[in-house]
Amino acid sequence: MFLTSFHTALLILSLTPTPTTAFFPGEEGISPSLLRTPPADAYDGATSSSDVLRDDLLRIIGTNPGGHLNDSVRDAFASKLREYRDAEGSDPSDVFFAIGRSIFGVEFDDGPPSPPPSDMDDENLPIVDFDYMKGFMKEVFLSYGVTPDRAEICSEVLIEADKRGIDSHGLGRLKPIYCDRMDKGILLPDAPINIVTECDATALVDGNLGIGLYIGPHCMQMAIDKAKKYGVGFVACRNSTGWYVSSSRDWNGERPLAAIGLTGTNARPSIAPTFGTEPMMGTNPLTFGIPSSDPFPFVIDCATSVNQRGKIEKYAREGVKTPQGMVIDDMGVERTDTEGILVDMELGKCALTPLGGAGDKMGGYKGYGWAATVELLCTAIQCGPWGEDICGVDRSTGKPKAMPLGHFFLAIDIEKLCPLGLFKENVGGFLQALRDSRKDPTGPGR
Ligand SMILES: *[C@@H]1O[C@H](CO)[C@@H](O)[C@H](O)[C@H]1NC(C)=O
Ligand SMILES: *[C@@H]1O[C@H](CO)[C@@H](O)[C@H](O)[C@H]1NC(C)=O
Repeated sequence: MFLTSFHTALLILSLTPTPTTAFFPGEEGISPSLLRTPPADAYDGATSSSDVLRDDLLRIIGTNPGGHLNDSVRDAFASKLREYRDAEGSDPSDVFFAIGRSIFGVEFDDGPPSPPPSDMDDENLPIVDFDYMKGFMKEVFLSYGVTPDRAEICSEVLIEADKRGIDSHGLGRLKPIYCDRMDKGILLPDAPINIVTECDATALVDGNLGIGLYIGPHCMQMAIDKAKKYGVGFVACRNSTGWYVSSSRDWNGERPLAAIGLTGTNARPSIAPTFGTEPMMGTNPLTFGIPSSDPFPFVIDCATSVNQRGKIEKYAREGVKTPQGMVIDDMGVERTDTEGILVDMELGKCALTPLGGAGDKMGGYKGYGWAATVELLCTAIQCGPWGEDICGVDRSTGKPKAMPLGHFFLAIDIEKLCPLGLFKENVGGFLQALRDSRKDPTGPGR
């Protein structure tokens, strides 16, 4: 349900009687998906009162960055939302009720709006489409004062994770990671991105504790631009924050790819060294994107630990044990009691094991080496912190503390080395051979 640019432009005109360029600088201003496709006669001058109330709600969000923390703005939103609910033609499934609940804390005493009329699946769960959720997330970022172009990227990166089924890193992160951290002041919605030092092929960037979701793609694009000119581009970034699905933007097949990309990030400490028990390194993912003649690029984007916390939380929800070898406690015991692990991880008494698992039986030292490599590339050039210094809590006061992360981005322009078509054929041919190779007859799905 995307609007045409023409409609979007009309909407912006109709929503902003006085210019508010800070929030509506052109077509980026309002997420098209949030706004219902207007009926053909919507701009003939006759607007129903529910539309006017909707516009008022949108204006409250757009002109009050961070306004959800301000009582008078919250009250204004609540009373306007109530008016909208009671108005003729209002839509009980409107995204504004969800924004009201989760961002402005508006719960109506006299009952919530009736549940959205939507398709129901076997478990009677309501189904909303990706565009709707992306629009919702974008409005949430806007309400915190994130600029429209950045809010667009942030919501795109998160929804892309959900689209790929990586629901541990999609919209489920919006509140606990982004909203909560912005509320605590340890993640800044409007931080500039500074270049600390730069030469033709390299740069060191400071994210100023802004949102990693837009800092990551910005740095990757810088590396690609340098590679286009000089063959390779390398960007190191400091003072950034979690950017999750690092493969989501530049490898998603929407743009023609002509570069090989490699990136990594550190994270709060959770992996113990082989034969150690103390969480020292982040889950430290390493990500490669390589264009292919397949209709999709080759992308690998995964942690250097066997598991991350989200997976253990999933085991807890499913009521199953954690497989042996993935978690080690301070006494060197390979723990499997999922609930106990979650408690002890919080206390720093349990650590994740590197790829290859506990000890050296399955080559855990290889994962240890990779995790350490990523940590080094994310901290040594950046002069950035690691371990306890990015655990998110001030251990002496118990207060939340900023978690400045480091990332690195390498881009290689293929065309400087090999004709792009030939390169892609080489990649696609190999990948096809892998898919065609002899299968384990007892493997899953056979
Ligand atoms: C709350 O926001 C309103 C509207 O932007 C502003 O006039 C008022 O000063 C703010 N109040 C506080 C306590 O920040
Ligand atoms: C990191 O970000 C903070 C907050 O924006 C800023 O004050 C600081 O100068 C930045 N750089 C370093 C190296 O801390």
